[in-house]
Formats: sequence, structure tokens, C-alpha cells
Amino acid sequence: MKQIKIEGNNILSGSIKVSGAKNSAVALVPASILSDDIVTIDNVPNISDIDALNEILTYLGAKVKRKDSIIEINSNTIKNKEIKEDISKKLRASYYFMGALLGKYKKAVMFFPGGCSIGERPIDLHLKGFEALGATVKNEGNKYIVEAEELKGANIYLDIASVGATINIMLAAVKAEGKTIIDNAAKEPEIVNVATFLNNMGASITGAGTSTIKINGVKHLKGCFHEVIPDRIEAGTYIIMGALCGENLKIENIIPEHLDSVLLKLKEIGCNFKIHEDYIIVSKSDNYKRTNIKTLVYPGFPTDLQQPFTVLLTKCNGTSKVTETIWENRFMHVPYLNEMGANITIKNQTASILGPTNLIGKEVVATDLRAGAAMVIAGLIAQGTTTIQNVEHILRGYENIIEKLENVGAKISLIEI
Ligand code: EPZ
Repeated sequence: MKQIKIEGNNILSGSIKVSGAKNSAVALVPASILSDDIVTIDNVPNISDIDALNEILTYLGAKVKRKDSIIEINSNTIKNKEIKEDISKKLRASYYFMGALLGKYKKAVMFFPGGCSIGERPIDLHLKGFEALGATVKNEGNKYIVEAEELKGANIYLDIASVGATINIMLAAVKAEGKTIIDNAAKEPEIVNVATFLNNMGASITGAGTSTIKINGVKHLKGCFHEVIPDRIEAGTYIIMGALCGENLKIENIIPEHLDSVLLKLKEIGCNFKIHEDYIIVSKSDNYKRTNIKTLVYPGFPTDLQQPFTVLLTKCNGTSKVTETIWENRFMHVPYLNEMGANITIKNQTASILGPTNLIGKEVVATDLRAGAAMVIAGLIAQGTTTIQNVEHILRGYENIIEKLENVGAKISLIEI
């Protein structure tokens, strides 16, 4: 079992390069099977979620070659078959194979996907979209059989602007006959990255990044070269570290406008940072003002940075409030932060953080990916040593996090116990 060990209270300075966006790459890899040719994707982060998706591709018979951050996928040898439960459950994003297999072969058989325990994580909106396109959905326990004689374009309204459902319906609709309109679509940058990928293959998608996406079905999707956008959540995580213990810490390879809501909040508390074209320089300050945060769909404050930002709020003067509106169980980091010396109370879906408090290093657990990131941040500013268990959660979403932090002065190591 692996653990992360951190000696706190060290200044971080130097530069950290942000990797490709996990939440885009985990959709691009399954989407590649829609092509009748070879696709090449660059800037793919080297994280275990991508390994798990490549395992599914190989299991289906695709040929996958990876060299550094470039993945080449040849799906011409795929034989569409049931994706077994053990690999379906490895990650939430395995569900993108439903949309891709349905879109290409008109049939997908797989099991309810895995993912962090931050909520019940239903897929009803995905299935509703597939049915609107003409598919039937049979559900035997955890197994889903989604198939269609033919897929016809439809008008689909999403009750919730779901990232996964928006992308999955796009994958199922790109080769459907006629026009599909997705209303109340999610607007995250990762969706634009996936739509651009499909259009590079020859799809006809407009409106990605707005709440109405239009898809005209095409017969054939060719090979293409595509690049994963920088990871705005990874970038935000490191910027928060810089705000807490950085000295001119440079976070590079970012798209600043993808972080507007986060940068506005950092400005509000009095954070000292300077934005450049594709990087940001951030330094710590010892006198932050309180603020309130409410997580919302893009372009609102991202739920995936709520937990990391909460650690920063422990250093703000007064009571800050964090309201989580997307996931019903995304405060599992709080008991561990309180054990380290934070003063956080939770009522319904709002955490109240009284600051400033000083954190002391403790033995803590990464309960999910972004709670794990919050534990790393807490360990970096705590007095003494922090050890984090269940670090697989962290390693599946942050490429080379140990090396990236060691390179800027953190006393952090990954130990095998
Ligand atoms: C994506 O999850 C991200 N994961 C999540 O990031 C992120 O928190 C989330 O979007 C919101 O931004 C990936 O992209 C792999 P949703 P997804 O469908 O697509 C409800 C991380 O830390 N809903 O937008 O699963 C759902 O319960 C991860 O990187 C339904 O009710 O999220 C939630 O309340 C964690 N029915 C809300 O919608 C559905 O069919 C938003 O979920 C689908 C979703």
C-alpha cells in the first residue's frame, strides 16, 4: 500500500507545468473508437484513469500505443463485446464507452461505472438521451444493455446540465441519422475539447460550450490528431498551494479564462497573483479576507476545487462558507482537516470555516480524489509531518504530483508500506 508523507511549512518556489485535463482525456480516449481510422491524441496525462481506459480499449481489440504524452489508437480491430464489471467499475468515465459503442456499433453492454463516493452518481440522463435517439435500455442488476436498430437525431433536454450526459449523448449522436439538439447542455471546457476532437474526425457539431449543442449525424469519421486542453482543476489545485505557501510560484501551461471564477475568489480574499498569457505567478500572503463559495456548473465555481479551496479558507480571517450544490457527499475531507486543527462545521450542504487556524500534521486518509488533494495541501502548510493513506485516489487524477511538488521545494515523498 502506498502513502504520501509530507513535512509541512516549506516555501514552494519555481515552476510547475500543468498536464492535460483528466476530465477531457477520459472522454477523448473512449471517443476515439468512433473513428474508422487511427487517431492520435497529445498531452494525455499519465494517470491511472487513462491506463484503465486503455485496458478497456485493448480488451475490446483496439491497438493502443503510448509514447510519453502521445497516445495512438487504432480501433479497426475492435470486436464489440460486453465490458466486464471489474473493468467497468474501475472509474466513472468508463461510461463513455456506452455512448461511443452505441454511436458506432448501435450496441453497448457494460456495467454501472465506478467513481469517487461523492454522491450516488446516477446515469439516468445518459440513458434518457440514448432512448431519445432510438435505443432501448435493458438493465439487469448492475448490467446495462443499450442497443438500437437505428439511431435517429432527437431533441434532448437535460434536467441537469450534466457533464457526463452531455458528452455521452454527443458520442451516441455523431453518427445518428439527422439532427440532434441537446438543450441545457453542460458548458465545461472539456466538452468543447471533445466536440472539437469529433469535428476533427469529420463530425458536424456546433454550440459546444453553450447550453445548446447541435449535432448533424454523419456517416463516416476519419482519423485525426488532437490535443488535450490543460487541466484547469490541476492548475487551480497548484494555484491554491501557491496562495498558501508559494513565493513567486509559477504555474504554467494554463488557460486563465478556464479559471475565471476561481481567480475572482482568490482576488476577493486578497491573494497576490499575476496572470500572464498561459501561466500565473502566485505568492502567499498572511492576511486573507473571508469569503463565501457556492459550487455551480461551469462557468460557476467548480465543485472539483471546493475541497482544495476549503484548506485555503482555514487561513482566512473570519467565517467563510462553502455551499456544495453538485454532489451530496463532498465534505469527507472536513473531519480530517478538523483533526489537524481546522475549525469547520457543516449544516446541510454548507461548510462554515472559522479562520485563521494553524494546522498540525496528522495521519489522514484520501477519501476521494479532490479530498486527497486537500489533504496534500493541508500537509504542505501543517506544522510537522502529515501522512496520507489511500493515495491511489490522488494518483489517479494528478500526474506526477510528487515530482512536481518536490521540484518546487516541498518535502514530500511516496512511501510503500
Ligand atoms: C464530471 O462528473 C467530472 N468527472 C467530475 O469530476 C465533476 O465533479 C462533475 O463532472 C461536475 O463538474 C469527469 O468528468 C470524469 P455530472 P459527472 O454528470 O459527469 C447528477 C473529479 O474530481 N446527474 O455533471 O459524473 C449528478 O448526480 C470528478 O475530477 C444525474 O442526476 O458529473 C450530479 O449531482 C469528480 N443524472 C450532477 O448531475 C445523470 O445521469 C452533476 O453530475 C448524471 C448526473
